[in-house]
Amino acid sequence: MKEKDYKKITTHSLAEMKKNSIKISMLTAYDYTLAKIIDRAGVDIILVGDSASNVIAGHETTLPITLDQMIYHASSVIRASKRALVVVDLPFGTYQGNSKKALNSAIKIMKESGAHSVKLEGGEEIVDSVKRILKAGIPVMGHLGLTPQSIYKFGTYTVRAKEEAEAKKLLSDAKLLEESGCFAIVLEKVPAILAEKVSKSINIPVIGIGAGNNVDGQVLVSHDMLGMTHEFNPRFIRRYLNLFDDISIAVKNYIADVKTQDFPNKQEQY
Ligand code: KIV
Repeated sequence: MKEKDYKKITTHSLAEMKKNSIKISMLTAYDYTLAKIIDRAGVDIILVGDSASNVIAGHETTLPITLDQMIYHASSVIRASKRALVVVDLPFGTYQGNSKKALNSAIKIMKESGAHSVKLEGGEEIVDSVKRILKAGIPVMGHLGLTPQSIYKFGTYTVRAKEEAEAKKLLSDAKLLEESGCFAIVLEKVPAILAEKVSKSINIPVIGIGAGNNVDGQVLVSHDMLGMTHEFNPRFIRRYLNLFDDISIAVKNYIADVKTQDFPNKQEQY
């Protein structure tokens, strides 16, 4: 089926897209300028991911980023976004094990950034938080498979749910999140066959990252697909640009022009 010309993406548009087998595109953004480019290019969902902790702040994990820092990034992205649905990650420590705290964190994000929805990592362990947030009218996206906020439990960033027991739990978590009212689920770094099974077993969109092609959409970290994070090379990344090299060349050219007094020239001064 031909894609409808959506003026503004909502959770309902995404449900319709899954129903009509139209793939959903999702990318991260953490600032106004990149969000504006991505939104105008027509991406369906912009994720203000807690990967900002790695990509923007240079931390090794996503754990250190705070709620206020996420709100700062989210409000910058919201100011740039006209069409895309903006999803914001609830950061580590703001929702696990306490549904009241989870609700307060989600409300703070929605009120202070103007975001459209929030994302939480985990299945059955966090379902009380998911339900409480949803009861307040806040759309929730789930996140299963490799959940980076639990990296110290997993020990490594390798593919999840290769064993039957973990695959079974993942399938039942996906069903639980759907029953609880989540509008979509991100599925990170799991075998493609399992991801396909999850996508077929639930009616809400499954957005994959390192989860193969037989899901309802794809998400990548923008800095990865633009080639700015050139030392991070998992096989699921496709680089559409090599900005690390391009920016390095531009900066070197600028330095040379400054040193030789080629810049600024007569037309570039007052
Ligand atoms: O924080 C993030 O960027 C994410 C994506 C990897 C899905 O959660």
